[in-house]
Amino acid sequence: MDFLTDPFLVPKDRFGGPVLVTGAGGCIGAWVVSILTRSGVRCLATDVLDNRARPSLILGEDASATLDWATCDVTDGTAVRSLVDRCGIQAIIHLAGLQVPFCAANPALGARVNVEGTINILEAARKAGIKRTAYASSVAALGLPSGGPYKATLYGAYKLANEQTARIYWDDWGVPSIGLRPNVVYGVARDQGMSSLNTLAIQAAVLGQAFEIPYTGPYSWLYAGEAAAAFISAASQDGAGAPVFDLNGRCETIERGLSILRRIENSAEVSASGDQFPFPADLDETPLRAHVPAYPEVSLEDGIGATHRAFKQLAAENRLPPLTA
Ligand SMILES: NC(=O)c1ccc[n+]([C@@H]2O[C@H](COP(=O)([O-])OP(=O)(O)OC[C@H]3O[C@@H](n4cnc5c(N)ncnc54)[C@H](O)[C@@H]3O)[C@@H](O)[C@H]2O)c1
Repeated sequence: MDFLTDPFLVPKDRFGGPVLVTGAGGCIGAWVVSILTRSGVRCLATDVLDNRARPSLILGEDASATLDWATCDVTDGTAVRSLVDRCGIQAIIHLAGLQVPFCAANPALGARVNVEGTINILEAARKAGIKRTAYASSVAALGLPSGGPYKATLYGAYKLANEQTARIYWDDWGVPSIGLRPNVVYGVARDQGMSSLNTLAIQAAVLGQAFEIPYTGPYSWLYAGEAAAAFISAASQDGAGAPVFDLNGRCETIERGLSILRRIENSAEVSASGDQFPFPADLDETPLRAHVPAYPEVSLEDGIGATHRAFKQLAAENRLPPLTA
């Protein structure tokens, strides 16, 4: 499966010491630790559980078993700080979080993980003097204040709190950070959350199952490898201030994505119906690309093609996870 990470490898001297990755068991985190590991960059993968199922889809079972992994709950500030100190962490890519449905199902837990967890990361960076902290906000932050054109969610409110908190950490204590607002991520290991259905459609096509996406029209297609590469790039230089950038990927219709998929897998029974997805599809990522070292831009054809190829290979190896929707 090296073809997944090959396009995104970085020179290992971009980092002078180990990179802490939170949420390493999640979709973007799995890609980040896979790319860093294959690039020869030392990284410490952390998550609330030691579950390497997603990294193993990208990196393979043997390599993911040898990842340097620490179980760490980001709501435990003492544990986060001691990990950062003990391991001589030089950069942080903070991806741990609960997505829209999980925040709605348990708002207090959502706030603890998404808001307090990010404070704990910034606090650890402050105490350790870390100059490279990249964290995940979300396009959902644009849904606030409620009553605007996009859907307002608790998740978005928590992400907005992250952005404001990061700014105050810079203003009051000179702790630099960079926040990225990913739009809709797709690719191998994207299997949960309200925006994972375009990925699940690719998986369904490989499994020969019918699948309908309940949205139509313009959509953000942000390939998971590209999203991970953006976070790695953002953390590969010392920060100043606490800027926040949109990370959009390609703006293409759901219908176009499905027609590419049908060209690759002729028998695919995939369709789309319903309204437009309730978030903007065409955010400008020029400011991000001007701010960080260059990282690859993946076309819709290449992203869907690589995802389909990987799902085929995983199915042939009996490692394709069950379809979750
Ligand atoms: N995937 C997307 O389309 C998208 C879009 C916008 C923003 N984001 C943000 O990017 C980040 C990564 O997204 P993802 O798709 O990889 O999410 P994901 O849900 O796949 O992974 C999140 C990870 O966080 C971990 N986690 C949960 N609670 C934790 C805790 N208390 N301590 C430590 N780890 C904990 C989970 O175990 C999981 O592995 C998240 O912050 C998410 O909100 C994702």
